Amino acid sequence: MSQVQRDWIAGQATSLQGDIVVPGDKSVSHRAVMLAALADGSSRIEGFLEGEDTRATAAVFAQLGVRCEAPEAGVRIVHGVGIDGLRAPSAALDCGNAGTAMRLLAGLLCAQPFDSVLVGDASLSRRPMARVIDPLSRMGAHIDAEAGLPPLRIHGGRRLVGIEARLPVASAQVKSALLLAGLQASGDTCVSEPHPTRDYTESMLRAFGVDIDFAPGFARLRGGQRLRPTDIQVPTDFSSAAFFVVAASLVPGSRLRIRRVGMNPRRTGLLQALRAMGADIREEPSAASVADAEPVSDLVVRHAPLHGIDLPPALVPDMIDEFPALFVAAACASGDTRVRGAAELRVKESDRIATMAKGLRALGIEVDEAPDGARIRGGTLCGGTVESHGDHRVAMAFAVAAQLARGDVRIGDITNVATSFPGFDTLATQVGFGLRDA
Ligand code: S3P
Repeated sequence: MSQVQRDWIAGQATSLQGDIVVPGDKSVSHRAVMLAALADGSSRIEGFLEGEDTRATAAVFAQLGVRCEAPEAGVRIVHGVGIDGLRAPSAALDCGNAGTAMRLLAGLLCAQPFDSVLVGDASLSRRPMARVIDPLSRMGAHIDAEAGLPPLRIHGGRRLVGIEARLPVASAQVKSALLLAGLQASGDTCVSEPHPTRDYTESMLRAFGVDIDFAPGFARLRGGQRLRPTDIQVPTDFSSAAFFVVAASLVPGSRLRIRRVGMNPRRTGLLQALRAMGADIREEPSAASVADAEPVSDLVVRHAPLHGIDLPPALVPDMIDEFPALFVAAACASGDTRVRGAAELRVKESDRIATMAKGLRALGIEVDEAPDGARIRGGTLCGGTVESHGDHRVAMAFAVAAQLARGDVRIGDITNVATSFPGFDTLATQVGFGLRDA
């Protein structure tokens, strides 16, 4: 698929003002489609993220014989076929840019009676898959991947056995892959993590009627259970709200209300980090909705001067997707910010330590890289040209940085913003960002 590269020109905002809602949560939307597809009957999903990543997941299930209706934007009615009702696909399954889709599907499909091949775009094709293949192989799966990279060739028809897995890295994707395989294995599957990660798979499995034990850092389920259809309300995505939280903190005179933000504690570490840097962020109760299974709050953010901190490494997993935004906050804060214990950033949609360091240096900020983090010296940003390296969150982080820069910033290759946050540019300009297509 060859597309003309899209760039943004982003300039200084005067102040950011408004009352906004960001799109649905990416992690929850992927899982909602997957579990609804496996259920014995139809489920309605509201608040579904209309992003390229989550649409890729829905398209994969269409190839697996699951009918999914979209009566309106943000709504899906998934006609589940049961855990044993998927159909063998006639072509490779394209996960696009979505690591969550590929890793969770690996767990789901390795126990199915048919073969399947999972492919992804250039960025996903560089992301490590051994972290799921190794434990799934211990359960009896057979997955081929050259050098541990996509495409994944999954050999079906294997009988899986539950295992006790102690994960070496804190990864909700790996945990979820093992739970989806465990659902189809004999005996119990038990996963423990070095640090608790987002528990959406566990809580959603329970909502679909699965008997699962879980607590922070731990999950156990018995194989052979079936899923009962249910309706899912997807919360809005904290990671999308994060760009507006940082922008309003940084741009003088700003005040933003972001409504109904998903506040799962395994996602909101950025709030603790920003508050330690001096940010003024209030959580207020959102208009009540009985449909919410996940906690939500309105966030009211006012500009405040920030100072650098030594980020506690224990906070890293709870803000793993927010480092591009944090790096920008650090670049605009007074003094140094030090990040350690974040080597996982090197294997995200891009190497986020390298891509953020390179871009911030191009805007005049001093950054020292470490294998597992960086030291960022706050300063004054100048205009210039930065590359997103096809990474949606890097592109949006630099759109925020540009609001503080002394000249225009050209941000290269922003197409993938649509994977997680379609309409980011429209919402951003609505609250006062300087941002346009190049
Ligand atoms: C995700 C888990 C995290 C996160 C990713 C989404 C998920 O990845 O970075 O954006 O939906 O489970 P890891 O499992 O690799 O930490």
